Amino acid sequence: MTDLLGDLKRTHHCCELRNTDINKEVVLMGWVQHRRDHGGVIFIDLRDKEGITQIVFNPENSNAVHEKAQEIRNEYVLGVKGKVIARPDNMLNPNMKTGAIEVLIDELCIFSKARTPAFQIEDRVEASESIRLQYRYLDLRRPQLQKNLLARHKATMAIRKYLDNNGFVDIETPFLTKSTPEGARDYLVPSRVNQGEFYALPQSPQLFKQLLMIAGFDRYYQIVKCFRDEDLRADRQPEFTQIDMELSFVDEQQVMETAEGMIVTIFKKVLDIDLVTPFPRITYDEAISRFGLDRPDLRFDLELRDVSDIVKDAGFKVFANVVKNGGLVKAINAKGCATFTRKQIDELTNFASVYKAKGLAWIKIKEDLWQSPIAKFFTDGEKEALKKRLDLEPGDIVFFVADQPKITNEALGQLRNELARRLGLILDNTYEFTWVTQFPLLDYDETEKRYQALHHPFTAPLESDIKKLSSDPLAVKSRAYDLVLNGIEIGGGSIRIHSTELQGKVFNCLGIDENEANEKFGFLLNALASGAPPHGGIAFGLDRLMMLLCQEDSIRNVIAFPKTQKATCPLTEAPSKPSTAQLQELSIKISRIEE
Ligand code: AMO
Ligand code: AMP
Repeated sequence: MTDLLGDLKRTHHCCELRNTDINKEVVLMGWVQHRRDHGGVIFIDLRDKEGITQIVFNPENSNAVHEKAQEIRNEYVLGVKGKVIARPDNMLNPNMKTGAIEVLIDELCIFSKARTPAFQIEDRVEASESIRLQYRYLDLRRPQLQKNLLARHKATMAIRKYLDNNGFVDIETPFLTKSTPEGARDYLVPSRVNQGEFYALPQSPQLFKQLLMIAGFDRYYQIVKCFRDEDLRADRQPEFTQIDMELSFVDEQQVMETAEGMIVTIFKKVLDIDLVTPFPRITYDEAISRFGLDRPDLRFDLELRDVSDIVKDAGFKVFANVVKNGGLVKAINAKGCATFTRKQIDELTNFASVYKAKGLAWIKIKEDLWQSPIAKFFTDGEKEALKKRLDLEPGDIVFFVADQPKITNEALGQLRNELARRLGLILDNTYEFTWVTQFPLLDYDETEKRYQALHHPFTAPLESDIKKLSSDPLAVKSRAYDLVLNGIEIGGGSIRIHSTELQGKVFNCLGIDENEANEKFGFLLNALASGAPPHGGIAFGLDRLMMLLCQEDSIRNVIAFPKTQKATCPLTEAPSKPSTAQLQELSIKISRIEE
């Protein structure tokens, strides 16, 4: 007996053996999931990435091997040779693919012993996420994470094949580069050779992919890491992966169709689901008006209705004043929910206040009265109009938010999602896609008192809106589009500006003067002046897409080595302090700047 591979050659994986293999001599390798000692006979569940096979050490078969098997504990790594036998009838396990058989072992190799793991290797794990991330190699042994990463592999294979078939060329772009304006903070890397200067890690390959179009590659793609120093959430990581693509001589329709084809392929390959295309398309204005958010979840109704015109003269001064000051009063009818308790209404009010709503007015529609702190302020005419607009029937409760449009829409849009969650309106295994198009080109930053690109500064305005760039910049719509799945933005892109003149106009609007434009993006402007084809593209968040495909609620569960909420890695303990020698080489001295 030896604990080296020796002449042991694996014949099957741990989810392969069936009834039809009975009496075969087989060699299996894997980890010990579970060990049971039943009156001298030892049963072990042997696990590899494919599944589990029960192996048996019986002293009547081989005393020496059984003796050695005594020392085996969970997570030991074994190689075993033995004969496939049928399980006794009372031990058949129909829940296991290999549940009809077991393997009676007559040769055992213990390749590695294992410390008692920090947590059980099972799907239902009790350990905190930070412990799981610290021992990520153990965490990754869990079937759920194995399944997720294999699904991710399947998806990327399907993506590469689809894009290759459609004429896309995979080209790498630099990580040590200059700032790319995607709206987040940059990660900076100091240069040793050019002391005092820093590279920025790319927030996306945006500028390079445009340069590749100007260079004539026609169609580019890359499955690529992007880096953004922003506050993290369940669907945000500081480094994440984009499926990034760019196409020449196309309009919005062609980009969207190509992207839809890719999504269809992924869903077919990973989930064997046939999606119906084209996906619905709605404009940004319509999305905000009906759903309050630019990433509407179309798995349920609960649409928002504007009632500003009805309540503009109402006795309830909060509503009347908001309308007078250019605000909006909108409402959601939660059908059949008049049974909500005071406590439930208070919870929803708190929820809305997170999104800056100053209150959440409500009316319960009863058979013979409207029960509400505010019903008394409405005339019969106003009530009748509300009833019609909101389709009010006995048993309903209607919620109102009155505020500036941004707050009203955001708060009620989020409330809509929350109501759907609470009311169980969201069915498992439903995938509702929608394109959101014609985003505004610009946004006004109240703190910095200037316009900002909503997408990025290279996005083309709608042809018909270009003349408004100087007169009414906020009214200018762009040729940008997002793909939204179940209320989550999984991709976004645009048709780009391909003329230096128009690019100059947009920079002008953004308050970027010629000097600044040249300093920041001179290379792009020069390239645009050297023969640029009309072009556009899109980037998908691969992690978000996989999160949805794997029915996970955090992208951390589809990333092998993710960061914590505080952008740290408990496994490697990154980030960490550099050595004095490293700092000296970089000519960097660290001192804290006091606020
Ligand atoms: P955008 O900034 O919309 O577009 O990013 C594209 C997609 O990337 C995903 N994403 C993220 N995923 C995880 N963590 C993050 N921190 C994160 N940030 C973004 C989202 C998003 O839809 N250059 C443009 C694309 C283009 O115009 O072609 C861009 O980067 O799913
Ligand atoms: P008040 O008169 O302040 O007690 O408010 C009466 C009801 O109106 C309460 O249910 C508040 O939550 C709600 N309310 C107050 N301000 C707003 C607002 N801006 N939008 C929606 N509801 C509000």
